[in-house]
Parts: sequence; C-alpha cells; structure tokens
Amino acid sequence: MSEASGHVLVFPYPFQGHINPMIQLSKRLSKKGLTVTLIIASNNQREPYTSDVYSIIVHTIHDGFLSHEHPQTKFNEPQRFINSTTRSLTDFISREKLKSNPPKALIYDPFMPFALDVAKELDLYVVAYSTQPWLASLVYYHINEGTYDVPDDRHENPTLASFPAFPLLSQNDLPSFAREKGSYPLLFELVVNQFSNLWRADLILCNTFDQLEPKVVKWMSDQWLVKNIGPMVPSKFLDNRLPEDKDYDLGDFKTEPDESVLRWLASKPAKSVVYVAFGTLAALSEKQMKETAMAIRQTGYNFLWSVRDSERSKLPSGFVEEALEKDYGLVAKWVPQLEVLSHDSTGCFVTHCGWNSTLEALCLGVPLVGMPQWTDQPTNAKFIEDVWKIGVRVKAHEEGFVSKEEIARCIVEVMDGEKGKEMRKNVEKLKVLAREAISEGGTSDKNIDEFVALWT
Ligand code: UDX
Repeated sequence: MSEASGHVLVFPYPFQGHINPMIQLSKRLSKKGLTVTLIIASNNQREPYTSDVYSIIVHTIHDGFLSHEHPQTKFNEPQRFINSTTRSLTDFISREKLKSNPPKALIYDPFMPFALDVAKELDLYVVAYSTQPWLASLVYYHINEGTYDVPDDRHENPTLASFPAFPLLSQNDLPSFAREKGSYPLLFELVVNQFSNLWRADLILCNTFDQLEPKVVKWMSDQWLVKNIGPMVPSKFLDNRLPEDKDYDLGDFKTEPDESVLRWLASKPAKSVVYVAFGTLAALSEKQMKETAMAIRQTGYNFLWSVRDSERSKLPSGFVEEALEKDYGLVAKWVPQLEVLSHDSTGCFVTHCGWNSTLEALCLGVPLVGMPQWTDQPTNAKFIEDVWKIGVRVKAHEEGFVSKEEIARCIVEVMDGEKGKEMRKNVEKLKVLAREAISEGGTSDKNIDEFVALWT
C-alpha cells in the first residue's frame, strides 16, 4: 500500500446504481491513503459526516429540488438539476480550496458533464469515472460522434448494428435509448452528452476489468486515456483476509438490508435457491410481474425475490403468503445482494442485467437468467449470453412480454440443464480473472495505484 495524503473529491450521479461503485472506489482510495470527500447532490441536506470505517468525509450539496420532491424529478427536469448543482458544486469546491489540505482532483460521473467544466474552471485534475460498462458507452460515443444514426422507428430499421470491437447487435441488443429516437428524449440526451466534453478529462476510469472486455477496452484505449479499475465489489467478498471491509457503512446512501433473509437462505440446501432481483429502478409491468411469479412457482425451486415496496402490489394475490407458509420462497423489500450471491444456497440469479448486478454475479460465480428491461441492460445481456456464456437471456414475444413458460425454461436450463453446467464453469473462470484484476498487483489494482501515486 502506498503512503499518500492527497485529497480528492468524488462526485457520483445521485442514483443508487451509480453511487455504489463510487463509494467502493472512495473506499479503495482511502485504504491506499488518500483523503476522500464524497459529494452527494441531494434535495435532502444533512450535516457533513465521516464514515466510521474509512476516513471518507461525506458532504451533501443542494441539487435545486425541494425536500419533498421525488428523486425521479431529476430525470424530468434536468436543467434545474444542472443549474443548481453547478452553482452548489462551484461554491463547495471553492470553499474546500481555501482549507489546509485543498483537493487536487475531482472524480465525477460523466452523466454530469457540467462537473468537468466546474472542476476545470477551478484548476482541478479531472477524472471521469464511468460506472456503466464500455458496452453501452461505446454505442453512446458513436451516436455523439455522428457515426451511428438512431432510427426514427426501430421497426423500420431491422438491420444489425455494427460497432468496432463488438459482435453484431440486433435492435434488441442495443441500449434501449439507442433503438429509436424520441422514446426517452431526456435520458437519451443524458447518456449521449457524456461525450460532449469528455476529451477535456485528464483521465477516464471505468468499472470493468481489462480481461472482461478486451477488444472493447483496446478500442477505447486507442481513442482515450482509459484505465479500468473494476470490478468495484467490496473486497470482503473477494478476499477473506480483509474482514474489516464493511460494505454498509455510509449512512443514508443505502437502504438497510433485512438480515432475516440470510437466516432463511441458510436453511436451504446448497444451490437450491433461485435469487430474483431487478435492481433499484426497473419497474416491470403488472402483467410481467405476475407472469414471472407464476414461472418461478412453476419451476418448483426455492426462491428469494427482492421486490421494492412500490412493486409489491403487482405480485399475484396470495403468492407471498403461500410461499412463506410452505417455506419454499421469500419476498423481501431489500436484500444484502452480495451476501446472497456469495451464499452456498444460491443456485442462479434472475436479473435485469444492471451493470453492478452483472459484475457482482460474475465476481461471486453465479450463473444468470437475464431479463433486461432498459438502458444498458440489453447490451449487457447480449454479452452475458453470447460472449461470456455465463447465462441465458429470456426471449420476449409481443413488444417485450416474456411468457412464464419461457422464464421457467431458462431457469431450469441454468439450474439443472447441460448448458447450465457450462455456464457455471465459465462464470467460475471469470470469477478468477475478476479477483486477479482487483487483487494486489492485478491490472485494476495497478491502475488505482498509478492514480494514487499522482497525489503522493
Ligand atoms: C442502474 C441501471 O439499471 C444499470 O443498468 C446501470 O448500469 C447502473 O444504474 P440498477 O438498476 O440499480 O442500476 O441496477 P444495478 O446496476 O444492478 O445496481 C443495483 C445495486 O443494488 C447492486 O449493487 C445490488 O447489489 C444492489 N441491491 C439491489 C441490493 O443490495 N439489494 C437488493 O435487494 C437489490
């Protein structure tokens, strides 16, 4: 470990799936000796505090929304978010620069290009840290460059999309925002604008590892100064020698997991439980939620399903109660996903293929049933099924709807089929590579060391 004392600022895009990998990076930098200030743009202001396990100071800055406004509003009114957060970030960094250990660098999520402009203006070294995979970013890059045209109507453009370093992508494999103009105009702008000023960044980091996406990484590295530093999974799940590495230690910026699920999981035989979770944002239609529930029931496997409160009413009536009573299934509103994935009882993971979930599963050697919903997830699912061969993607019919027979078929295939055995072997191989990358001296660890060395 290097002896460093430099001070860096870390500024995540304020949604859970983006905050988690930024927190992990903050912990690694702090462990390697840097002073880290984590800045959270929020409508819920609180006093600054220091995390009890790491010396990470957490500050909230105002994002321009009122305390009662739903976080989702930031999606719908991006300009209000950008204007207010630009002002509060400028004020915050200006004040920090007057202190005895002024910050030298800002690590920001490229979903907020304005943060780069603020930091450059204030003479900081600027690092873009992409918490999404290159798989999606590369597509957005080509859209921004004008080298890929998003069709007005995807049904009129059934051809395969070709990108350097990628297998050919069908329309269904593309990130959802890149399929059709106008389907999510604000989010489309958000993901493509990442590249509007990225050439001004001093360094680009990504939450992946060289061995996972070698062709894509090589292509990106030829264009930009890119370093991969992932997978950003807490080291306690990768290396038992680091028991002090607590995952859930940063106050408000997570939801408290329900530990009772681990007790329930421990009561089940090895590899007997199907774990189901669709991340922090995706909302399945009520019809799809019911169909998924029936599919799980039909397979007869034990199951653990993380269902947010806002989704629970979509489950079939009596489904939760019957599973509990007969003790074959548990529905919880938030589970400690890493513990669940690393548990002996877990046999497979039915997932929306969010990037964090994908990395976590492959680090912990769990094969996948992919049910991608939107954003980068379809492209992640394509790689899961066809490139890494660590899972199977459900096939949808009529406008994205997936039948219970298809979901059940995929679950059985991964749990007990011949292909499932192959997938298990492949995911074990990736697990080893992921752990090597992040262990001391591995490719990702070295890249973090090089960054830390800039400030020693
Ligand atoms: C979003 C996008 O959906 C994703 O595709 C993108 O790459 C990042 O932003 P999200 O939908 O939240 O993320 O999915 P994912 O990236 O998988 O992150 C979910 C995180 O929440 C994971 O770290 C997972 O471990 C955690 N989680 C989820 C829990 O700890 N418990 C739960 O019950 C559910």
